[in-house]
Amino acid sequence: MAICTKSPKEAAAYLKNGQLVAIPTETVYGLAADATNTEAVAQIFAAKNRPAFDPLIVHLAGAEQMEKYAEYIPDAALKLAEAAWPGPLTIVLNKSKLIPDLVTSGHQTVGLRVPNHPLTLALLREISFPVAAPSANPFGFVSPTSAAHVQAQLGEKIPCILDGGNSQVGIESTIVDFSNNQRKVLRLGGMSLEQLQDVLGEQLSVQTSSSNPNAPGMLTAHYNPGKKIVVGKNVAELAAKFSTSNVGILAFTTPVAGVNFANQRVLSPSGNLAEAAQNLFAHLRDFNTIQVDVVLAEWVPNHGLGRAINDRLKRAAAKPNF
Ligand code: TXA
Ligand code: MG
Repeated sequence: MAICTKSPKEAAAYLKNGQLVAIPTETVYGLAADATNTEAVAQIFAAKNRPAFDPLIVHLAGAEQMEKYAEYIPDAALKLAEAAWPGPLTIVLNKSKLIPDLVTSGHQTVGLRVPNHPLTLALLREISFPVAAPSANPFGFVSPTSAAHVQAQLGEKIPCILDGGNSQVGIESTIVDFSNNQRKVLRLGGMSLEQLQDVLGEQLSVQTSSSNPNAPGMLTAHYNPGKKIVVGKNVAELAAKFSTSNVGILAFTTPVAGVNFANQRVLSPSGNLAEAAQNLFAHLRDFNTIQVDVVLAEWVPNHGLGRAINDRLKRAAAKPNF
């Protein structure tokens, strides 16, 4: 078992010692190590069983540290960082020499983010280095949104969890690539496309669902809760095609009549997409322990955070490709 603490100082001691700490962020919990210490970073890949070709996001205490860890910061990237940080946005830039190749899986670019969580910001101010942190789940699995989720899956492999309660956004950061004069969205997440485009004053292209190693980590099958998932437009109509005794339901607003309520989860009774995002991973995770053969889910409205939710549902439903 990992020790659980609410003290950034206590957690910082582990990081300074080259050990791993699970950290709370507003998006999901991260599995952090000193980004400048390759031995510490190697432990992240081992604990998560993560393939070495999938690069890690580097978390900073503030936007003023960008210049130290990235080269050639375009004005648009700076503008976005100022508008969105601390917050659910990762900016990919050409990396500086201070970032080891192991962190970026050999790429010359690095994803940077300032997370918006008071305990983790306090932790980052306690230490003199940034932390590399992927989501704190075994590779391919659903991301954790509470300390208990991390404890259940990685508690035997890591010494310390900084417990900051439930993640408020609930889905991972949006990733925008500004490296090599590009501007494209690599992952939809906690900052909506509409918000991004508002800040930048331009349309952005979205290139998220590739299994091409040049767009690392965007593997089609991810967020696997260990059950077959089928997604449809209307979950009640979908349920009519299945035997109701062995289905689980992940509904947007309304449970399905005739299916055992214990086997159903509702993302947001009022149809609020922020609430749906907050609940998504915890609900998906529940189906791990619910005795059903298949989980039926429904697409949410495809705007704002809904795009990121639908992206996660699509990946959760895809056949594993790793
Ligand atoms: O919200 C988040 O971003 C969370 C919290 C902990 O900050 N982190 C997270 O990390 O979701 P992870 O490793 O689960 O997902 C990071 C994604 C991966 O798909 C990875 O391939 C991509 O970011 N990535 C990281 N560095 C990259 C780079 N230099 N170029 C392109 N993609 C990158
Ligand atoms: Mg992840």
